[in-house]
Amino acid sequence: MPGVDYRCISFVQDGPKATLTFARPDVLNALNRQLIDEALDAFDRLSADTRVLVLRGAGEKAFAAGADIAEMRERTLWTDLDFGPRRELARRIESAPFPTVAAINGFALGGGFELALACHLRIASDTAKVGLPETRLGIIPGNGGTARLARLVGRARALQLILLGEQVDAAQAERLGLVNWVVPAAGFDQRVDALTDRLAQLPPVATRAVIDCVTRGEDMTVDQAIENEHRWFQICLASPDKQEGVAAFLEKRRPKFTGVQAIPT
Ligand code: COA
Repeated sequence: MPGVDYRCISFVQDGPKATLTFARPDVLNALNRQLIDEALDAFDRLSADTRVLVLRGAGEKAFAAGADIAEMRERTLWTDLDFGPRRELARRIESAPFPTVAAINGFALGGGFELALACHLRIASDTAKVGLPETRLGIIPGNGGTARLARLVGRARALQLILLGEQVDAAQAERLGLVNWVVPAAGFDQRVDALTDRLAQLPPVATRAVIDCVTRGEDMTVDQAIENEHRWFQICLASPDKQEGVAAFLEKRRPKFTGVQAIPT
């Protein structure tokens, strides 16, 4: 499918792989209202057989350096701040039934890092810098940053990073578990491609099950989470992918997973 013509993002669907690029490199891909609206529109256009979505930033310097501060200047009421669409975008990223990957090639700050935190996985170049610097502007992260960061790195680290507005380099981000992988900037695109190739070949039903169990399970009691896991396990057992995976193992060949069109939720 050819890319759709947007002003603040680019969006490309290449078979099962979709790539959404924040494309305002002159302002380090700062997230203005138009960009958020376009990203939501791109979500509506994802093909039904999407198996992986990558978020990335245009240019050499940034994934996204946060909410557009110029746009924020005149806004003093939270109702002025269009956080409904921003929250909706993060929610769609986090609850997507296929893996969502933040490919962090530079600064991922504030609202940019919050969208990366909503992704299931994060791969960063060794030049990346991440953080939630909002307190420096007299505000706080407003799109799930406090909640998602605390769940990812624990309360003490989250308080440290958010209160001090610390900018964390790639190596430290990996040590803290803020990103899954750090790779050299020179080979970044190839490593992102290799990762997304692998993710696109996973069994779609089991992949969706794992995402649901791990992300939603975090907010359930252990008993509820195990019950949810059990239901998904039954669905996987009855799926064509399980037949294919088991047959491929026994026939000593690589499996070719296809998923199913409709999965009960
Ligand atoms: N909103 C709007 N514009 C932004 C922006 C943002 N969040 N972040 C960067 N820009 C703009 C700068 O104003 C500058 O524009 P100009 O060329 O017209 O002056 C351009 O992007 C380049 O940024 P600059 O600050 O010159 O680059 P740098 O390498 O010196 O610093 C950062 C990079 C990321 C450290 C710095 O831009 C920064 O601190 N940005 C704000 C981060 C932030 O607080 N985000 C949270 C927002 S809630």
